[in-house]
Amino acid sequence: MISNEKYIELARTYGTPLFVYDGDLMLERYNDLFRFIPHERLCIHYALKANYNPALLSLLRDAGAGIDAVSPGEVVLALALGFDPEKIIYTANNMTDAEFDRVMKTGVTVNIGSLSRLSKCAKSHPGAKICLRFNPDVCDGDNVMTMTGGDLTKFGILLQDADRAAEIAAGGNLHIIGLHEHTDSGLQHAESVLKSMDNLMAIATGERFPELEFLDFGGGFKVPYKDDETPIDYISMGKKIAEKFDNFCAVYGKQLLMRFEPGKFLSAECGTLIMEVNTIKHNRSRTIAGCNSGFPQLIRPVLYGAYHKIINLTNPDGKPALYDVCGNICETGDRFAEQRELPEIREYDLLAIKNAGAYCYSMGSVYNLRPMPAEAVIRNGEVADFRKALTDEELVTRILQK
Ligand code: LLP
Repeated sequence: MISNEKYIELARTYGTPLFVYDGDLMLERYNDLFRFIPHERLCIHYALKANYNPALLSLLRDAGAGIDAVSPGEVVLALALGFDPEKIIYTANNMTDAEFDRVMKTGVTVNIGSLSRLSKCAKSHPGAKICLRFNPDVCDGDNVMTMTGGDLTKFGILLQDADRAAEIAAGGNLHIIGLHEHTDSGLQHAESVLKSMDNLMAIATGERFPELEFLDFGGGFKVPYKDDETPIDYISMGKKIAEKFDNFCAVYGKQLLMRFEPGKFLSAECGTLIMEVNTIKHNRSRTIAGCNSGFPQLIRPVLYGAYHKIINLTNPDGKPALYDVCGNICETGDRFAEQRELPEIREYDLLAIKNAGAYCYSMGSVYNLRPMPAEAVIRNGEVADFRKALTDEELVTRILQK
């Protein structure tokens, strides 16, 4: 655990805004999964899209994790960091022929999520080993924008098309070595994970798909963002997952690998964005705490209405009041929190936005031409890796480059 005093010290040393990542906590979460899901053939493929900080990725690589990549760029990064191609699954959607060919050449497992791409693959890469992504027909995310199961999404092959998929694959002599599903991010109920597993396992028969080596049940494990959220009982869920999978393998007649692809679960809690308040403004009905970061650096509240806990690091015992915590971007919606009760915020106070490790830096941009913040990875209480922010001049040099 990184203490508030440590966050203050880091902010004073490196300046703000600053992303701080607790590498030990990420590894703890990785190990938690093996504790929760007691199965000897469990493989964790980290969803790199959640946070691509190279030092964090290296920690997971050394711990034995694989990667879930969703673009050729993510595949290139994972390979550059030394992840074994056999431990990388590429699950892009709406990929171009060129992207598909390029990734097929790298030796990573390509996960195909449409009959159209499957038909093209049967023609262009006869005999290839591939994975098929199905839509699990279960919806349970905490936000409509991140729901990937069910009728309203673009992802995966319909379960009802399993026979058709097997037929197309056979036409190109493709070897279907894995089946995949992903049921939303921030799954609220353990039952949804289990139901999705059931739905995928129901079509994974030996007659239809005789060459399976693994089943991949995607990511989506929820982490609490609010203090009063009831956590999922991962121990009980994990046991049921292991039992279910064993029962399936017994019927299938082969000891398959069980894969999951968590992003948030591994990286959300380990990240904190520290920023400084530079302007306090009293509008008629609201007090605005204006900070030196903005939504391009942490977009979840604006994009999804997501809640992120905020801590006043430098005035924790101040008298509570309501604040709109705003950023430095020229847009009205540039708020990290609206009407949030926080200990009195003064100019030059440091605020910490919690759970900023997943889908924050990685969804960042340089809108308004503010470079993305520096990042510090902490191990055993000390800075183990530091990536500086671009200066304004470096950013502009990149823009001017042709
Ligand atoms: N596997 C696949 C195929 C996925 O599409 C995703 C996430 C994951 C695994 C990892 O899901 P996780 O364990 O992180 O929930 N930007 C949104 C989340 C989008 C998730 C997209 N796919 C957010 O900030 O909430």
